[in-house]
Amino acid sequence: MYFYIPTKIYQQDGCVRAHGQELAALGSRALIVTGKHSSRKNGSLSDVVSALEAHGIPFLIFDDIEENPSVETVIKAKEAGLSFGADFVIGIGGGSPMDASKSIALLMKHPEETADFLYARGDGDSLPVAAVPTTCGTGSEATPWSILTRHELKIKQGIARPVFPSLALCDPGYLAFAPHSVLVSTAIDAFSHCVESYINANATPYSRMLCLQSLRLWGEAKGALAGNRAPSPQDFSNLMCASTLAGMAISHTSTSLPHGLSYYLTYDDSIPHGLAVGVFQVPYLAAAGSQAAAPLLTAAGFADLGALAAFLTPLTKQDIPQATRERAIRGMMGNESKLKNCPFAVSEKLLEGFFGENETL
Ligand SMILES: [Fe+2]
Repeated sequence: MYFYIPTKIYQQDGCVRAHGQELAALGSRALIVTGKHSSRKNGSLSDVVSALEAHGIPFLIFDDIEENPSVETVIKAKEAGLSFGADFVIGIGGGSPMDASKSIALLMKHPEETADFLYARGDGDSLPVAAVPTTCGTGSEATPWSILTRHELKIKQGIARPVFPSLALCDPGYLAFAPHSVLVSTAIDAFSHCVESYINANATPYSRMLCLQSLRLWGEAKGALAGNRAPSPQDFSNLMCASTLAGMAISHTSTSLPHGLSYYLTYDDSIPHGLAVGVFQVPYLAAAGSQAAAPLLTAAGFADLGALAAFLTPLTKQDIPQATRERAIRGMMGNESKLKNCPFAVSEKLLEGFFGENETL
């Protein structure tokens, strides 16, 4: 058994300003990696800028990170960071900027390398990375994973080198600015990380403890996700913490069939990641069996699998073209790294059943 999380994590309101000194101490010139809009709207970018200015750290803002960032974008950011002379990287936003920041930090540390370096199995020797999450799904602030879009393969794929952020500054207050749809989608991603980490061939008592505690916090907030009430600051705190805990869990186990299938839905049909993985949660739990599913359902506050389905289906139901479904099943059956994480036998027939009512006729 093995447990390793080298990231220093703070979760509190106002934590970027409160711990700006530790952020600034990661280097002498910063490359800030973010998207175009949300980090400006929720105040996270200005918090980071204020913290760096207060400690005299010059910075460059690269705000061209798209949703499901491509390897090509990572290369552009690497070139910008090298030209500026940055010696550490700060990723602000959801999974896209945080994942990208890890790959950028790797390539900046190895400027002579091309994108192939990311997908060649090896160590994660990179510039220091700080992560400032502004959604509650990916857990990327506490994982070594970096998932990028590879257009040449028409798929999203995790790089082959692990990069943990050195520092994660998790301010749940940013979630108040997220559109409800983003809150829902990313929270379902966090839920899915717990399910796929708990029902996983690599699960340990440590990783399972993280999953169950994440689901308890998530379960307390789920009424706000369903739209039964407006989310409270406590909901935001619970959802942010649930996401980070789930990230720690998948750091040790990785994910399983739903994530492997979901990448095709996102690439081919632009279905947001959280909704794409959400489609497959009930079938995955059903395939694992009621005994395996019971602790997860209890922790999240669902009486049974039917109650979970009643909650998730209205939020995640998708029209999935037949061609996507076939490509996803074919791809999954050839995805050895995801297949070996699944603790039960997998067949094409089983995966066909995973699409259930979401199949487009
Ligand atoms: Fe995910």
